[in-house]
Amino acid sequence: MTSGQLSREEALACSNCRHACHVMLYSDTETKLFGKIPIRHIILMQMRFDGLLGFPGGLVNPQEESLEEGLSRELLEEVGVALPISLEDHVDACFAPASSPSPPLPFRLITHFYVKKIDEEQIREVERAAASTATDHGLEALGLVRVPLYSWKRGGGLAMFLSHSFIGNARSQLVNSLLRLNLVAPKDLHKALTESLKTHTHSADDLKAALTLTEANRKPF
Ligand code: APR
Ligand code: MG
Repeated sequence: MTSGQLSREEALACSNCRHACHVMLYSDTETKLFGKIPIRHIILMQMRFDGLLGFPGGLVNPQEESLEEGLSRELLEEVGVALPISLEDHVDACFAPASSPSPPLPFRLITHFYVKKIDEEQIREVERAAASTATDHGLEALGLVRVPLYSWKRGGGLAMFLSHSFIGNARSQLVNSLLRLNLVAPKDLHKALTESLKTHTHSADDLKAALTLTEANRKPF
């Protein structure tokens, strides 16, 4: 266990803590982008109500349900399928970074991260349900997205995806999982993250240009 992390037992023993559980659902796939670029794996993340990318899941009260039952319940609300989550799917637990949630709450938040591999057909079923029967669709959950694992021209693909904004430590959870499960080669991941950092500079210029646009169109009161 790396520093800052807690075992499931240590996490559950914390008296003034609340718990949030999120899961990375993924599958293998044979499909190819444009008929030539292997997709290799489908990894699901979601656009959250706060405009950040994160994994499906949410707050769980261990006094009322197990962490895994709570996560299954959250999945039913957010993606429309109560996928069973087991103890073996638990990867790690840690205190949420100080900036998340903001403003600070009167309790400490422990985030539990799970990873579950399912079939490609189940992934498709989850995607269909998330956009149709999930009660949180359009509310707390704004839509599932697949993580592009390939690299495309001019820093596109994984590098561009990693340059977006993520809730809490969700980006690290994704990167750790890619390494741990060998879904992307470490050297490719390193290259993608290096590209991502460059993209940030361009994004800032882009944002400034958009801001100028609104300045020009702002009507005087
Ligand atoms: N790392 C750290 N913190 C995270 C992560 C992560 N990867 N993912 C989510 N969180 C935090 C969120 O900031 C939130 O405070 O965990 C908490 C619960 O997760 P959510 O998925 O946002 O919770 P959910 O139960 O689905 O519903 C949203 O929580 O954010 C509040 O007020 C909001 O009532 C709303 C509810
Ligand atoms: Mg949630």
